[in-house]
Amino acid sequence: MSLRTNYCGELSAEHVGQTVTVCGWVDTRRVHSEHLAFVDVRDHTGIVQVVVDQKVNVRSEYVVAVTGTVAARPAEMVNDALASGAIEITDTEVTVLNEAEPPPFPMHDRTDVNEEIRLEHRYVDLRREKMQRNLRARAKINSAIRGAMERQGFCELETPMLIASTPEGARDFVVPSRMHPGNFYALPQSPQLFKQLSMVGGLDRYYQIARCLRDEDLRADRQFEFMQLDAEASFVDQEDVFTFISEAVADATEAITGERPTEFPRMTYADAMDRYGSDKPDVRFGMELTELTDLFAETESNVFKTPSVKGICMPGGADELGRNKIDELTDKAKQWGAKGLAWFRMKEEGLEGGLTKFMSESELAGVVERLDAKTGDMVFLIADKKRVANKVLGLLRLELGKPPVNSGEFSFLWITEFPLFEDVIDGNPIPAHHPFTMPHEDDVEKLKNAQGDEWLDIRSQAYDLTLNGWELGSGSIRIFQRDVQEQIFEILGIGEEEQMAKFGFLLNAFKYGAPPHGGFAFGIDRLTALLVGEENIREVIAFPKTQKGSDPLTNAPSPADPAHLEELGLRVLPREE
Ligand code: AMO
Repeated sequence: MSLRTNYCGELSAEHVGQTVTVCGWVDTRRVHSEHLAFVDVRDHTGIVQVVVDQKVNVRSEYVVAVTGTVAARPAEMVNDALASGAIEITDTEVTVLNEAEPPPFPMHDRTDVNEEIRLEHRYVDLRREKMQRNLRARAKINSAIRGAMERQGFCELETPMLIASTPEGARDFVVPSRMHPGNFYALPQSPQLFKQLSMVGGLDRYYQIARCLRDEDLRADRQFEFMQLDAEASFVDQEDVFTFISEAVADATEAITGERPTEFPRMTYADAMDRYGSDKPDVRFGMELTELTDLFAETESNVFKTPSVKGICMPGGADELGRNKIDELTDKAKQWGAKGLAWFRMKEEGLEGGLTKFMSESELAGVVERLDAKTGDMVFLIADKKRVANKVLGLLRLELGKPPVNSGEFSFLWITEFPLFEDVIDGNPIPAHHPFTMPHEDDVEKLKNAQGDEWLDIRSQAYDLTLNGWELGSGSIRIFQRDVQEQIFEILGIGEEEQMAKFGFLLNAFKYGAPPHGGFAFGIDRLTALLVGEENIREVIAFPKTQKGSDPLTNAPSPADPAHLEELGLRVLPREE
């Protein structure tokens, strides 16, 4: 028989007169009168006030069972902030189920606690209201995603964790093999190749809530281990992928916010870079990057004799940004790669600012008109290569205008027509997504004789889904013909021998009736964080790693047992400092 009859947060005026037993943790204890004390008991549903004898010895975080009668609180004692604020439990019998040392940090969400200490005692931290809310939201999101994928005919499949390397652009975590000394498995950076093989295997529509592992530097939106909704489907085009993924994301959003997003607008990669200087633009606010190059065609000044001049206008920025702030922004712009930052304030009495002396009257007037700058606004210009102007103004725009993560607005945006290659290093193009992405059908010819930077103009059939300036997920229509895949590997500088050694299984599978297919994966940690208004995905992961990649709770990573290393045939070399 269960120890409890009710959860703490469920009790209300309806229960007055009933005898109940609640179980949970002592939240706070306050003196009531000479003989009585108030104890707030907490479980994951909330808090209930119980009235106990002063002699009852309970302290913060003791685990208790309390049996008593639900009574209405006197009118002046009603607490509207609490779900159970109209009642209390009286005539109580308190059983201490377990004592507790004082918690290592205050339990209330209002206090900022050092991250190491929180994670070292994560089991205590998880009791806090915010963590309960976040983890339960995450569970709802998983459940909504599963529902959406099942409804759309996707079949759940589990792919292996001990695999050969998958190239997703990060470092692999490797696992030594005892049975094959000197050999290693890689942990999956994603289930990419298995999901493609499952299409060759006739699964038709596959999905998985998949754990992925990547050894990369950690940031607010990155952990070593993270979860993806991973999906793949046969005989589909990009439109089909957008439909089934939007469905899953809309269901998940509705499960948390109560509102179903209906708009999933699209923007090409080229437009996103031009207008926002980013392939994951935050379109919750304006301040778009504006092309000004033509206005400086006849410029006398070397500052503006550059391949590109672009600008942004910050409404109301003239008064908001003082000299110190502008100096700080100029330093940042230099760190981001600009030579300098041109700016002027739109004052009542005229324009005021740095570098205006390098612009002619007509150039200035043109800039003001093009940017639609009004009195009180602040204008920033970057003159440089187009790539630099876009990047720096894109970052500056975010610095000046980004709404907070918990703005309550959810702005989804598909970015389409990503380039096939993101860079060219030593003559070899580097894939922007992964090497299994189908080139854009209109650009296939260009693959045959591209040179140097021409590689960067070749488009692919890859797309991303972004939300409020975060990359939520990526996908593509895949290559499914062996000769095309070999051609792409060749272009990437992966020779025949290496192709067979690393991807022979995929190339072979393509010989045996591979259907056309495409898919997508989005980060569940990222989606959850944004939906609950958190800036760091650690806040929606039960047992995350610190920024330095360690787990202060279990002390991972830690040195291996020498006997274990011996068995694996491994020796650890001393690190040179
Ligand atoms: P991609 O590498 O873009 O694509 O990953 C998809 C999504 O996974 C999430 N993600 C992460 N989340 C937390 N921590 C990380 N270190 C991390 N890395 C990635 C992001 C990202 O958008 N196989 C392809 C998908 C496909 O083509 O179908 C892939 O994994 O939200």
